[in-house]
Amino acid sequence: MKNTFVTKERLEAIAAEWPTPFYLYDEKGIRENARRLRQAFAWNPGFREYFAVKATPTPGILKLLYEEGCGCDVSSMAELLLAERCGITGKDLMFSSNNTPADEFRKAAELGAIINLDDLTLVDFLKESIGYIPETVCCRYNPGGTFTLGATGEGFQVMDTPAEAKYGMTRPQLSEAVRKLADMGAKSFGLHAFLASNTLSNEYFPTLAQILCRLAAELRQETGVNITFLNLSGGIGVPYRPEQTESDIFAIGEGVRRACENAGLDNVAIYAELGRYMLAPYGALITRATHEKHIYKEYIGVDACACNLMRPAMYGAYHHITVMGKEHAPCDHLYDVVGGLCENNDKFAIDRPLPEIVPGDLLFIHDTGAHGFSMGYNYNGKLRSAELLLKEDGSVELLRRAETMDDYFRTVVW
Ligand SMILES: Cc1ncc(COP(=O)(O)O)c(C=O)c1O
Repeated sequence: MKNTFVTKERLEAIAAEWPTPFYLYDEKGIRENARRLRQAFAWNPGFREYFAVKATPTPGILKLLYEEGCGCDVSSMAELLLAERCGITGKDLMFSSNNTPADEFRKAAELGAIINLDDLTLVDFLKESIGYIPETVCCRYNPGGTFTLGATGEGFQVMDTPAEAKYGMTRPQLSEAVRKLADMGAKSFGLHAFLASNTLSNEYFPTLAQILCRLAAELRQETGVNITFLNLSGGIGVPYRPEQTESDIFAIGEGVRRACENAGLDNVAIYAELGRYMLAPYGALITRATHEKHIYKEYIGVDACACNLMRPAMYGAYHHITVMGKEHAPCDHLYDVVGGLCENNDKFAIDRPLPEIVPGDLLFIHDTGAHGFSMGYNYNGKLRSAELLLKEDGSVELLRRAETMDDYFRTVVW
């Protein structure tokens, strides 16, 4: 069983004011988790989490995390503008993009963001785009091959074969980029890599830290440059299934500390760009059962669809479902829980044992706080939902209103 962070009565009251479907985020959970992360890396004075904005690009969430000491990791013009409007700029911003347009480099430079270069060719392109090379710059490494550590119980990793991934530079390219950047005026360097997504192994970050520590030592020796930070990026996973165990952030922090100590690199700052770990468990998609259908299988139709949460349709991802008020009822019905899209993969659950569901029941779709709302789309003209924050004092704050048909048709030339 997975805990919901809200009761059925409270959820009904919220739904009376803001109709389903909507996303609900848990302020208490988000803050406590962010504080745990900081504690786990307190041994590293320069530690910084740059929250991966793509996971939950919602100003109310970014500001809340900023209050907890997190900067923002942004990867596009919209994300740069979003951070700027939240007042998050300068060294509080990490710009980690790929296939980057010149105007995005210009905006990142204007905001004083730390720029993370995805490719060797971007060294010259950055100079052409902004007219200079910043004093502090980061390079993204791709070691190639296969990276198997940290496999999730879901039987897949979103990205576990660096050789097949479009990101980062090869080892020889990295040496060339660093040398070139140093010749062009860069003084302080960071190294970045993201080798696997949604890992539940406490060894992923420490292993990556070892890889980057070794790389930093080699590059220092080869080129004499000053490597001041290692960006371990995202990738710490969450237990989407109730039987999975959650990552132990203190063991992860300690493992990274040991990796740095063993490499004699106790003076580098550790950065992270976590998205899922920071937000997924503290957000839920709330939807209401609207129909039941009995054909070759039993279907429950709900008022949300894959446009609101794409992960199950896209990756076959598991999201646990609690039928509110029936937490202790026997799971003696086997349902496909579906949205209303004209796409047969529009299913939040397939053959899922659940308590009997009747139209009107509220469903709490767990662990959707990251890469949930943000991956939304408008197929069949379905609208994006509202986003709400359940505050620590029990009140609810609207973070984003639901889209309207007027929003949907706004760009049309009739
Ligand atoms: C560059 C970069 N950093 C961080 C993240 C966040 O990853 P996660 O949510 O798995 O922690 C992503 C995810 O796509 C990413 O592309």
